Amino acid sequence: MELKITCIPGDGIGPEIVAEAKKILNKTAECYGHQIIYTDILMGGASIDVHGVPLTEEAIAAAKAADAVLMGSIGGDTTTSPWYKLPPNLRPEAGLLGIRKALNLFANLRPAILYKELAQACPLKEEISEQGFDMMIMRELTGGLYFGERKTVEENGIRKATDTLVYDENEIRRIAIKGFDIAKKRRGKVTSVDKANVLDSSRLWRTVVEEVAKDYPEVTLEHMLVDNCAMQLVKDPAQFDVILTENMFGDILSDEASMVTGSIGMLASASLNDTKFGLYEPSHGSAPDIAGKDIANPIATILSAAMMLRYSFDLDQEADAIEQAVKDVLKEGFRTADIMSKGCEQVSCSRMGELLAEKIK
Ligand code: IPM
Ligand code: MG
Repeated sequence: MELKITCIPGDGIGPEIVAEAKKILNKTAECYGHQIIYTDILMGGASIDVHGVPLTEEAIAAAKAADAVLMGSIGGDTTTSPWYKLPPNLRPEAGLLGIRKALNLFANLRPAILYKELAQACPLKEEISEQGFDMMIMRELTGGLYFGERKTVEENGIRKATDTLVYDENEIRRIAIKGFDIAKKRRGKVTSVDKANVLDSSRLWRTVVEEVAKDYPEVTLEHMLVDNCAMQLVKDPAQFDVILTENMFGDILSDEASMVTGSIGMLASASLNDTKFGLYEPSHGSAPDIAGKDIANPIATILSAAMMLRYSFDLDQEADAIEQAVKDVLKEGFRTADIMSKGCEQVSCSRMGELLAEKIK
């Protein structure tokens, strides 16, 4: 099979971790008889430095021309980087939001799994962590507060800023359908998270999710308020299968869930539209403080590449092989600095990539 993949190395540790993901993809393609055609594009700070804007029309066109996009990370240190002296619509993050919108990537899948091998890294009490957990956070990605109208004005000498949280029923329905479809293939439970005791947008969310649920009698639906969900994630994470939620809540809860696994450097993500096309990226950021030092953890990006093979190319066997390689290398005791624990061997970003590539057969 021929796989057309557009890569966005991006900023900070992005180029290093994407290079390792390519190593694994190349080895997988070699073993399973596929050809990969890569195109690299600039986005975020890297694009600002060359083109003066975080995302160009050419970059969007190159992304659209591919079957899938693999991204590293974008952005820099918000207090010291000159990118953050620019107006908000020209900063690195605007590139990411722009590509999500341009490609209609409304469904963001963020799996949070506690790996048995990394249970020591879990910050929760042992009686909680020993139960393990495996949840999928489904975050709506192209609506809500991120894309509502916003403005900052000064009225009678008082500065005032407004952001608007808007959802229409179609936006809610399409992400809910994806959530239930995925729950059906997992343990059959959806926890829809909202703030329906306060927000109109959440009350509509709840109503539409209930309508969608009628088509999935085999899936159990429960509703949970977002503040309670934030608490339940540290109290009893094993209760969750699929968490279905809007953009802003999903942003916050997915960071929390990743920390509960103890290893944000391990967590992949997929952003999908209505077709097989998707953008795949680690859940973590660009970690500018460790960029260029060859110490970042490339596993989240490598697992994102596995999700790409699974969701955009239907190559389940190949995706399984990559995920198994990760488990095997961890079992053998190799760790990057972020997940290092006593008795293990610490390896660099590039060495971790090599070890994983060697495991693919
Ligand atoms: C994420 C990030 C982005 C978001 C930022 C970089 C705009 O935090 O992907 O979770 O808030 O969506
Ligand atoms: Mg985030």
